[in-house]
Amino acid sequence: MALKQLHIYNVRNLQEVKLQDLGEINVFSGHNGSGKTSVLEAIHILGLGRSFRGSSAKALITHGKPQCTVFGQGAVSLGVRRLLTGESQIKVAGKPASSVTDLIGQLPLQVINADSFDLLVGSPRARRQYLDWGVFHVEHRFYPTWRRFQRGIKQRNKILRRDKISQSELSVWSNDLAEAGDAIHEYRQSYFMQLVPRFHAMLEALAPELEGLEIRYRRGWDKSLSYAEALTQSQKSDLEHGYTHVGPQRADLRVLISGYSAADTLSRGQQKLVVCALKLAQGQALEDRRAAQPCSYLVDDLPSELDSEHCRMVCELLAGMRSQVFITSVQADEISNVWPASGARPLTMFHVEHGKITAFTA
Ligand SMILES: Nc1ncnc2c1ncn2[C@@H]1O[C@H](COP(=O)(O)OP(=O)(O)OP(=O)(O)O)[C@@H](O)[C@H]1O
Ligand SMILES: [Mg+2]
Repeated sequence: MALKQLHIYNVRNLQEVKLQDLGEINVFSGHNGSGKTSVLEAIHILGLGRSFRGSSAKALITHGKPQCTVFGQGAVSLGVRRLLTGESQIKVAGKPASSVTDLIGQLPLQVINADSFDLLVGSPRARRQYLDWGVFHVEHRFYPTWRRFQRGIKQRNKILRRDKISQSELSVWSNDLAEAGDAIHEYRQSYFMQLVPRFHAMLEALAPELEGLEIRYRRGWDKSLSYAEALTQSQKSDLEHGYTHVGPQRADLRVLISGYSAADTLSRGQQKLVVCALKLAQGQALEDRRAAQPCSYLVDDLPSELDSEHCRMVCELLAGMRSQVFITSVQADEISNVWPASGARPLTMFHVEHGKITAFTA
């Protein structure tokens, strides 16, 4: 869903911001500390109920205020209020929602910021989250299966930690877990196959010199075994340590360049290009699958780490997609100078200063 209007109250230094005419590609520029990233955080709150800078409401709410509120209007209206008490109030299409889960799917978001480097240099968890974002949005059976798996593994680990273990009870939970685990792997693998060609196309456009780069999916257990077999094989060690060693909770993506770890080899700028290709490929996969509802991009400080030619290439790819885009940059002309001139998607420019935002024409 594309946002037409965005109202922000008491998010960091944005005490009252009303943006009435958002475009398809929105650029927020201004000095350090002016409030650019806070605008992206506000949109993130609307999409997921929390900021991408951590879940603490206290850090997010303007100092001295009891709450922050964000309203967005697109095909439906969304409203999220976070209180200092930790409570959240959510409205979807004017109706109170019972939990954040009701928000999910309304405004699918992809974030490209300094934390996105975790996709390469961080723990497997960041890569699983990345993969699962895509699986969640294209495969509606994934979420219930994933919930079932979470319940199952919790229960199995509890049994493994008991002093006296009933083999039949352990078998019941292992069988249930095996079914959910196999299904999660199937969904992930099928999505991964859709993702890889799109990723390579994006990367070729952004950094043809990285043609030796490959990405591999690891399911979390020996691929020659079914998950049930892998659980049986690891049971002895599971019993010794009191937890389930193998499974989709250990899945990972490995990114290699000419056989070496990309995280250890690539320069910071090259890492950013790979991250952009990964994120853009996901948006593309979603667009191809659900043309009616592409995701939106929140790109914080796009020019950082990139030379102007690579910044231009990222802009060209963003311009060619159908997603709504929110970009921040200290200097507006670092984006406007490299944005494709003859694109059908012009830039909507905003200047940010001390928490106040004004639209301007470049
Ligand atoms: N809870 C808060 N209450 C009030 N002000 C806050 C709060 N948290 C952060 N700030 C201030 O809000 C301002 C906006 O921060 P933000 O990160 O959005 O800036 P920015 O424009 O993205 O800067 P940069 O270019 O350095 O990334 C900063 O001056 C920061 O000190
Ligand atoms: Mg910032």
